[in-house]
Amino acid sequence: MAYKLLFVCLGNICRSPSAENIMNYLIQERGLEDKIMCDSAGTSSDHIGASPDRRMQAAAGRRGIKLIGQARQFDLSDFETFDLILAMDRSNYRDILQLDPDNLYKDKVRLMCDFATQHRDREVPDPYYGGEAGFDHVINLLLDACDGLLEEILK
Ligand code: 4NP
Repeated sequence: MAYKLLFVCLGNICRSPSAENIMNYLIQERGLEDKIMCDSAGTSSDHIGASPDRRMQAAAGRRGIKLIGQARQFDLSDFETFDLILAMDRSNYRDILQLDPDNLYKDKVRLMCDFATQHRDREVPDPYYGGEAGFDHVINLLLDACDGLLEEILK
């Protein structure tokens, strides 16, 4: 059975779809498609069904990565389905854990930046209300963290 990863942010149109598509890119590069499976979700319902944000698509495109997918909201069943749930920032982390009052799945939930080795950021910052540089930073940070995460899973 494949190891299942779920990337979670607020809207599921900027950070978590980027993480999902970057991770899939690294997985394909290594021929690990049968071993690791990725998905993403948002804690909010605001953008359900939407494609990744155009500014995020452009930033990913500058690094040769195409963003595909439609936003969906995090669902309680995701706690069971996925082996590891990666929160982009602390607010996402808290929002996820609030859905698990008995802490049954706490060990499955981690901050994405825990896996970055080249950046000191502790959170993937929300780029939504900022400029182009913020979107480029998200991609650079996620390339680093996804790389570290993949190494950790393969250990
Ligand atoms: P994301 O970015 O959580 O990385 O998808 C955001 C998308 C939308 C909003 C905020 C952040 N919003 O306020 O609509």
